[in-house]
Amino acid sequence: MKKKLIVGNWKMNGGLQANAELLAGIRQGLPAALQCGVGVAVPAVYLAQVQALVQDSPIALGVQDVSQHEKGAYTGEVSAAMLQEFGVRYALVGHSERRQYHGETDADVAHKAQAALAKGITPVVCVGETLAEREAGQTEAVVKRQLAAVIQHVGHCVSELVVAYEPVWAIGTGKTASPEQAQQVHAVLRAQLAAATQQADRVPLLYGGSMNAANAAQLLAQPDIDGGLIGGASLKAADFLQIIAAAQ
Ligand code: G3P
Repeated sequence: MKKKLIVGNWKMNGGLQANAELLAGIRQGLPAALQCGVGVAVPAVYLAQVQALVQDSPIALGVQDVSQHEKGAYTGEVSAAMLQEFGVRYALVGHSERRQYHGETDADVAHKAQAALAKGITPVVCVGETLAEREAGQTEAVVKRQLAAVIQHVGHCVSELVVAYEPVWAIGTGKTASPEQAQQVHAVLRAQLAAATQQADRVPLLYGGSMNAANAAQLLAQPDIDGGLIGGASLKAADFLQIIAAAQ
């Protein structure tokens, strides 16, 4: 049975006191015999604090973006080498909010994924369609196009990716994709990965988009849903722990 992976995406939320309280609550509530992977993708400004707070715990440290560049005149960006110094395990790349608000292209995302891999950081490649694209019947074309850009760029490292399917219309809306809707797209992504690597089954496919304590078990029961990328529900220890419990 493949181990599930639950990653919290804090987005632009938190603070020194709030982070300490949230992570203390999560650490206290984690099952002793944890059967799934757990990570938190935090604002980069809190890396030193959260690195210390998750030390000696099964919680992996993650971030929400990484520069595609190695170093230099890229004001405001954070390189994979810098993240590596803080023991970062996961880097989200291509989250829809960065594609929307920062104009990140499929090529940018592919280069970001490569930059992370080059420093031993696992990219969580985010793909997903807008409501308009879904209603136009373009869901599969969109997510396959987004993932193809990364597959083509990272080559044999494709088996080291994590992929997150996050339908944009489900993010932060409470309108979660049904288990059937999510599984259908995950199966498409799995088939696309299988055409690129014999280890496609090793690549965790996470669902993101209003996953919560009430719906996590049904989503995680789907054959190609290997975990969740959790926004709002990752900001309350009790909610996040219930999702982790559903992934056990
Ligand atoms: O990256 C995860 C995020 O986009 C999902 O947000 O609040 O719908 O769980 P939320």
